[in-house]
Amino acid sequence: MNKNYINEHFTKVFDNPAEKFFFSPGRVNLIGEHTDYNGGHAFPCALSFGTYSGVRKRDDNKIRLISGNFSITCEINVDENIQYKESHNWANYPKGVILEMLKLGCKIGGFDLYIWGDIPSGAGLSSSASVEMLTATTINELFDCKISTKELVLLSRRAENNFVGVNCGVMDQYAVGFGKPEHAILLDCQAISHENVPLILGDYIIIITNTNNSRSLATSEYNQRHSECESALKILQAACNVEFLCALDVPTFEQHKHLIKDEILLNRATHVVYENARTIKAVDLLNAGDLASFGKLMTESHISLRDLYEVTGNHLDTLAEAAWQVSGVLGSRMTGAGFGGCTVSLVHKNNVDNFQNTVAKIYQKATGLEPSFYVAKVGSGAVEI
Ligand code: GLA
Repeated sequence: MNKNYINEHFTKVFDNPAEKFFFSPGRVNLIGEHTDYNGGHAFPCALSFGTYSGVRKRDDNKIRLISGNFSITCEINVDENIQYKESHNWANYPKGVILEMLKLGCKIGGFDLYIWGDIPSGAGLSSSASVEMLTATTINELFDCKISTKELVLLSRRAENNFVGVNCGVMDQYAVGFGKPEHAILLDCQAISHENVPLILGDYIIIITNTNNSRSLATSEYNQRHSECESALKILQAACNVEFLCALDVPTFEQHKHLIKDEILLNRATHVVYENARTIKAVDLLNAGDLASFGKLMTESHISLRDLYEVTGNHLDTLAEAAWQVSGVLGSRMTGAGFGGCTVSLVHKNNVDNFQNTVAKIYQKATGLEPSFYVAKVGSGAVEI
């Protein structure tokens, strides 16, 4: 992808060339799922594919938003009361970001924005966070708002929480903002800080497999998991002085978990506390070069998301379980929110063809769908190009 492609399309739709260009990646989470909104750890990395923008200031207060991926276009005014509109579809993400930046007092004028991306949408690879961070970074540079990357991450998350209505944690926007080539990010969602961890995989590569099954009920089920965790936390707070489920280590949780009488709430909390511990351990193992044990924890993570958190479903389970049977696969799990989307697998470079053929065959037979495979290249966070 290059600027010429974006500029060509920008010029076609807006009659003038763009002034500036930006890139914002997608992300894949290696381990640490549904821990972020519970104050825990996650271990994502930014991908080399993502979303791109071309932008140009206008002399008036109009904002025109056009996407190369969706036919819906959107026009708003900087000084109008910016509202969520179902009919604006994808454009609600940039609109939410614009509103959050205006709330922070950014002096934003009118502009034309063209966005194009190559992240498969609805695949759990954070196409929404990518668009949010793309918009935030673009506006920040175009109007010289001088907002730090961390604040752009936080305001993008607020846009998703308050404007779009998904009670997500900070992982996606953070990974998209702070990604670094050849590194994953050990993200501490309580401190909202991170450490870049070199992703040294030797003869192994990360393969993302897409179920190509559109996610249904993702938002409502996701928000439900969030509130189940809050309910479990409230119960435990009678005995433990903690602000988040992930502030409990495994022994403390084991000591007090009898207080949670409801089986579903207990399962949810068990997943969260153990997944957080798994994530910290997984990073230690990776740092020690023990990829086999790292892979085992990926698989354990999937099992916990399947049996305790119940966010996998038949399509993701079929993909992960097929991968576990293939030689040269160290681990495989769903990635992202779940309810459809993708798995992530650690596969020996000599077994890639066998992996793809075997998994595709089993998956197709079980679901009638063809999966897609992407070799994950780790890219950088949102930047001007
Ligand atoms: C989605 C959310 C994230 C995180 C994951 C699950 O991707 O946007 O904040 O909660 O699901 O780990």
